[in-house]
Amino acid sequence: MTGRYAEAHRRSLADKEGFWLEAAEAVTWTTPPTRALDASKPPFYRWFPDGRLNVAANCLDRHVAAGRGEQPALIYDSPMAAKVERFTYRELTLRVAKFAGGLRSLGVGKGDRVLLYMPMVPEAIVAMLACARIGAIHGVVFGGFAAPELATRIDDAKPKVIVFGSCGLEPGRLVAYKALVDQAIELAGFKPSRCVVFQRPQLRAEPVAGRDVDFADLEARSAPVEPVDMAATDPLYILYTSGTTGIPKGVVRDGGGYAVALCWSMANVYAIEPGEVWWTASDVGWVVGHSYIVYAPLLFGATTLLYEGKPVGTPDAGAFWRVISEHKAVALFTAPTAFRAIRRDDPDGVLMKNYDLRGFRALFLAGERCDPNTLLWAEAKLKVPVIDHWWQTETGWPITSNCLGLETFPVKPGSSTKPVPGWDVQALGPDGNPVKAGDVGALALKLPLPPGSLPTLWRNDEGYVKSYLQEFPGYYKTGDAGYLDADGYVFVMTRTDDIINVAGHRLSTGGMEEVLSNHPDVAECAVIGVADELKGQLPLGLLVLKAGVNRPPEAIVREVVQMVRDSIGPVAAFKTAVVIKRLPKTRSGKILRGTMQKIADDQSWKMPATIDDPAVLAEIAEDLKTVGYAKGS
Ligand code: COA
Ligand code: AMP
Repeated sequence: MTGRYAEAHRRSLADKEGFWLEAAEAVTWTTPPTRALDASKPPFYRWFPDGRLNVAANCLDRHVAAGRGEQPALIYDSPMAAKVERFTYRELTLRVAKFAGGLRSLGVGKGDRVLLYMPMVPEAIVAMLACARIGAIHGVVFGGFAAPELATRIDDAKPKVIVFGSCGLEPGRLVAYKALVDQAIELAGFKPSRCVVFQRPQLRAEPVAGRDVDFADLEARSAPVEPVDMAATDPLYILYTSGTTGIPKGVVRDGGGYAVALCWSMANVYAIEPGEVWWTASDVGWVVGHSYIVYAPLLFGATTLLYEGKPVGTPDAGAFWRVISEHKAVALFTAPTAFRAIRRDDPDGVLMKNYDLRGFRALFLAGERCDPNTLLWAEAKLKVPVIDHWWQTETGWPITSNCLGLETFPVKPGSSTKPVPGWDVQALGPDGNPVKAGDVGALALKLPLPPGSLPTLWRNDEGYVKSYLQEFPGYYKTGDAGYLDADGYVFVMTRTDDIINVAGHRLSTGGMEEVLSNHPDVAECAVIGVADELKGQLPLGLLVLKAGVNRPPEAIVREVVQMVRDSIGPVAAFKTAVVIKRLPKTRSGKILRGTMQKIADDQSWKMPATIDDPAVLAEIAEDLKTVGYAKGS
């Protein structure tokens, strides 16, 4: 039916009260909201200010009450652990209620923070929902981050308890989380009172007496507890994401608006029916995992798939097709990098033919720019709509998408289609006014942002305003640049800050520079994001050594690579650095990172008018060649 999208988008902006109060009917409230938007304290906006609910009960108990008790809520498929497990809504509700009781017995209550450092196991979801059940605020830290990153989050969130797994299973290696947790607690100024350890048979952790409690014991010995009644505006979780420095930003998500937006999105963006099997191949440590592995499918009464494996190598590039056919998933949501990996290993899609994919309806991609070749390859092989959609940790759900549940638009490769209802997307010029169609500008979202998006940063209203709202009054600055074409399609092109996107993981090059500059032989450094066929981007370090240092550059490079791995984590994928004589700078001393990146990637570039010494760039090009970049220069 045509016009449904336009009408929904128009109404979502023109009649916010009507649109969102209607959407709110999909949620079970203990006190239904009488108002949608509280706009009394701009630029801070709150949704459903008088509504009350428990989000975990909305994910679980209400489905049991409605007769879905025997439906699988969660399917765990782990090629890493050679395990498949299924949990019905009834079973998952009981596990969550008991673990919630366990957390409470450790003194965790409403408003307390609990950090989770977990592999992709059902217990990660049990712990998240158990927090939500008792009104505690969870903060999940991705397992690929190193101890100092965990320590920063401990100091910011001040958790009463940390829940961690004894190990992560990565191809060819075990990640011993306990040593990382111990180191993080040592580094952090704030000390959590207890830890709960989920023991895995592949590598058990030696518990610390008086600190560590066993996950399974705690769950087994605790009585189930009832969900706690929460205000819609109470925080549900904090999720840390890279900012422009090494200090991550604690994105706050409140419960009511999030539940409403996610339920709405399942029907209208993703076109899913309750009872269907939905699969998001991401990690619970990222926003995509929070929203679309855990909360949205469960809020909606679907079955969610939790996959502990990779798109390739576990055991091969047919893994995704096996999972889809074995569990009858109707849709998959993942990062383009996963498809680049599959395409690299199985360009003709031969492995796909071994599986029955007839029930599979759509592929959704997000987390990084989707290159048209990958999108077209996936479309040709799968013969279903391939939907590139754009969003961020901060927004919690998609900003732009082809909303399959409303109306399907023709796909334009390179575009994530149109603003989702609720979002007013503009490309702004430096003066803060929208530029004309086709012109690139700073992508910004007109305030108020819709329900589900961040109300602020954790205990840092000022940081929220400074990072996002100050530059363009009346708008939220996304940090992405791009354009809207004459048909209203949005093209997200690049970041305007130092964030890079490595295999769909958001990282700050500024954070990496902070690590490199701690090396005793490094005088100055820069980190740039260079193009990579598989991961989209990779970080590349440029090091200027202190005068008089005459150690072999290879040794220094090896050391800085290890430092980034130890300080930020393997997820940074920082493997290459090159020693150079000097960095290109403007006359005012600003490092010309953008120009270096263009040279490295063999893109056309202009000599910056403000450059201090133009000869430096030719030197850099030569140095970049030694590590396989700037080949054409
Ligand atoms: N715990 C510990 N370490 C982790 C980890 C975790 N949860 N996740 C990743 N890592 C490690 C990896 O083992 C790897 O370590 P290594 O340097 O020792 O090889 C490193 O972090 C980089 O990980 P990643 O960038 O994810 O690459 P990969 O080599 O594991 O696999 C592909 C990458 C090619 C398979 C990639 O296509 C992929 O699927 N990445 C994940 C995409 C994704 O889910 N993005 C989330 C946003 S939606
Ligand atoms: P994260 O907060 O980790 O989800 O990363 C958000 C960032 O990833 C965005 O600001 C974009 O830079 C990038 N991103 C996410 N989805 C897309 C997409 N579909 N197209 C282009 N960039 C994207």
